[in-house]
Amino acid sequence: MGAQSLAVAYGALALCLALAKAANPGFVVRITQAGLDYAHQQGIAILEKELARLKLPDISGDSRLRHVGKVRYEISSLELQSFNLPYSRISLSPNVGLHISISNAFAEVDGDWRVKLLFIRDHGSFNLNVENVYIKIDLKLGSDTSGKPTVDTSSCSTRISKVRVHFLGKFGWLYNLFYNAVESRFRNILERKVCETVASSVHNDLQPYLRSLPVTARIDAMAGIDYSLVAPPTATAQSLDVELKGEFFSMVHRSAVPFTPLPLALPSDHDHMVYFGASSFFFNTASFAYHAAGALVFEITDSMIPEAVDFHLNTATFSAFVPQLEKMYPDMLMKIRLSTPSAPSLNIRPGGLSLQPVVDVQAYAILPNSSLAPLFLLSLTGNVSAFIDVRSGHIVGNLSVGRLRLFLKHSDVGTFQVRQLQSIMNIFASTILLPHLNGRLEQGFPLPLPDRIQLSNILVRFHQNFLLLGADVHYQPKERT
Ligand SMILES: *[C@@H]1O[C@H](CO)[C@@H](O)[C@H](O)[C@H]1NC(C)=O
Ligand SMILES: *[C@@H]1O[C@H](CO)[C@@H](O)[C@H](O)[C@H]1NC(C)=O
Ligand SMILES: *[C@@H]1O[C@H](CO)[C@@H](O)[C@H](O)[C@H]1NC(C)=O
Repeated sequence: MGAQSLAVAYGALALCLALAKAANPGFVVRITQAGLDYAHQQGIAILEKELARLKLPDISGDSRLRHVGKVRYEISSLELQSFNLPYSRISLSPNVGLHISISNAFAEVDGDWRVKLLFIRDHGSFNLNVENVYIKIDLKLGSDTSGKPTVDTSSCSTRISKVRVHFLGKFGWLYNLFYNAVESRFRNILERKVCETVASSVHNDLQPYLRSLPVTARIDAMAGIDYSLVAPPTATAQSLDVELKGEFFSMVHRSAVPFTPLPLALPSDHDHMVYFGASSFFFNTASFAYHAAGALVFEITDSMIPEAVDFHLNTATFSAFVPQLEKMYPDMLMKIRLSTPSAPSLNIRPGGLSLQPVVDVQAYAILPNSSLAPLFLLSLTGNVSAFIDVRSGHIVGNLSVGRLRLFLKHSDVGTFQVRQLQSIMNIFASTILLPHLNGRLEQGFPLPLPDRIQLSNILVRFHQNFLLLGADVHYQPKERT
């Protein structure tokens, strides 16, 4: 191979590797050890209930006992009275998943016995204490093709080191029978059943719960958020990180976003149970989606002007700034149409979240036959800063705007002093446009949370290119009906 073709081959290889690497997430969810500990408490309570419901099969066989002879036995109606998991912990296995170890668990089992030797038959009931049960479970986390999280038991082992049996009545030889013939079979069965119950609880309780994570959340008629996983969750020594697409899309017409997220490196904070990192990509796709859906257009008419503002949106008022209106369009109402020629892009820095939108302001006179006569087109910019908070599992916010700057793009009514319109535009912005936008932002946008999770103890912090939210979690169990 010549040097050139070698270079081509390397180039192709580098390209393949670059493509194989998953895209950067627009949104990251980090669950810290504190969060895992909380989830684990909830999970163990569920597992305890599931284990107490575990069904055990009958055990029967023949055994030859010294001084007694051949005995046919049958153990039936085995029923767990309780299964207690007092000591357990969850830990992160870096690059593998989660590890749960349960120690000194104990259970109580009732059952019936029946024996036959020669021509004697007898039966009765008994009670078992299963003690020093050790259970080790590995959970493997993944993602499916729809970007939903998956969880599976990748390994489970149970070891029971002590079984104490009490027969009601005095049957010394029954104890011998039990420890010679039954105990180890019983232990093996219970050890296997515990792991089967763990696997089915993970499959039937935990997996569906994780799948309640809304990977595409509809926000309103115009937009939704794509929270699908871009990679399987990754366990590090400190946290479980879930990388999500974090992309808004237009419900009307979803189109490819013309920019990509920057890498998102969360700080190593661990005081809260969960952290959310929302990159500037996340917010910029919101702007892109609402713009694409035609939502960033706003019309102002006279009826929308608050009464407290002593001012009318008509040519009589405006002729103070644009004198020629008085002659050209005497005594007519006006309409102002605000729109953004391109989706506003926003910046996140340690100082906060800000944007400098460019807004087209088209003024019209409303003619007596209701058709619109274009008057002039202004371009308006201003520094907008955002306040961000979290309420009811939603990112909420409000905007405030600094001084506006105007310039004339086009006039159908000749020249005029644009600067004179500055104060009117400020009034429109502060009394009409911002209250409208803030009304929408107050409803907020949903965070990626599975069902029945409430957040508290909220932290909001801005970093370069991303917003960091921290929270503690409270799980509200489903009410049994
Ligand atoms: C409305 O009136 C204007 C001027 O009087 C005229 O140019 C326009 O064609 C009219 N539009 C309609 C829809 O009648
Ligand atoms: C917006 O802020 C930047 C720097 O923060 C400043 O240079 C610019 O003049 C401001 N624009 C307006 C319209 O106030
Ligand atoms: C934004 O919300 C915060 C907290 O809810 C409030 O203190 C602030 O006054 C609001 N700002 C605007 C411009 O509405």
